[in-house]
Amino acid sequence: MPKRAVVFGNLGQLGVELTRELGERGYEVIGSDRAQLDITERELVEQHLAQADPQVVFNAVAYNQVDVAEQEPQLAFLVNALAVRNVALACRQVNAQLVHYSTDYVFDGTAGRPYTEADPTHPLGAYAVSKLAGELYAQAYLDGALIVRTSGLFGLAGLQTARGNFIELMLRLAESGKPIRVVEDHVASPTYAPLLAARSVDLVERDQHGVFHVGGGQPSSWFNFARLIFEAAGLQPELRPTSEREYRTPARRPKYSALSNAGIERLGLPKMPPLEDALRDYFAHRKNL
Ligand SMILES: NC(=O)c1ccc[n+]([C@@H]2O[C@H](COP(=O)([O-])OP(=O)(O)OC[C@H]3O[C@@H](n4cnc5c(N)ncnc54)[C@H](OP(=O)(O)O)[C@@H]3O)[C@@H](O)[C@H]2O)c1
Repeated sequence: MPKRAVVFGNLGQLGVELTRELGERGYEVIGSDRAQLDITERELVEQHLAQADPQVVFNAVAYNQVDVAEQEPQLAFLVNALAVRNVALACRQVNAQLVHYSTDYVFDGTAGRPYTEADPTHPLGAYAVSKLAGELYAQAYLDGALIVRTSGLFGLAGLQTARGNFIELMLRLAESGKPIRVVEDHVASPTYAPLLAARSVDLVERDQHGVFHVGGGQPSSWFNFARLIFEAAGLQPELRPTSEREYRTPARRPKYSALSNAGIERLGLPKMPPLEDALRDYFAHRKNL
């Protein structure tokens, strides 16, 4: 019997790819964006799930403005934590599995090696605290919640969303013709959204719950990521490395927040491909849009 899946935040970078991936695997998908359903409204979330009666619920909604969150921590907490509580409670009512997404920013970046699911968390700012609280709410109300942490997400929906993604930001900066400075001393695991969607559904289909890391194929500094983006785009802007000391931001960020994929690999899920391959695919599809 085909399964029914609900996707909250279906127009975001991840939501679009989850919707496509689930559809391709034969799921009936009921998606909603913020205009249709604001998940901070608990009653609406409960009504929606009662009506849809899904087996699995993917929460791809997020407040992702890391720096702005320092000015409006309440809003970040409302969307990233209290709304997750709404979704978790509603999932419990209809006995649906919840798949919720979190971030490498739950770590403080001092480990100096890719983080595993067993590493202790220590968020450094309002966004990061709100995301960790979301994880805790999901786990507080549901024994079988699946929490997938990812890093530096990029997907083609970033061309349309208000927040966009790092690739589109780099392309806009290149158009301006001015020198581009990108930090070289912060390392993450830039992750391609279609791959994250595929690994998420793999985890669901293997009846997994608990916390899993799904990061890109290799750790990369943001400077190196920018270099690879311009290579893939065939552009040669003036790109200069900078450092945290020179490039101050309102929110503190972990210096080294790459994620280890050892957990999903132990389960036999396919290895995450190199960043160059993901970028090639991104630009190949971008051309057709
Ligand atoms: N992007 C990254 O670099 C990154 C890094 C690590 C982890 N993550 C995590 O990965 C997951 C997916 O992120 P993403 O990049 O796909 O995010 P995204 O592209 O910003 O999409 C988030 C979606 O959530 C919607 N939304 C916001 N508030 C809502 C509300 N109250 N009710 C319903 N919808 C709402 C947004 O709609 P509007 O456009 O109308 O606001 C947007 O469509 C999130 O959990 C995020 O924290 C992302």
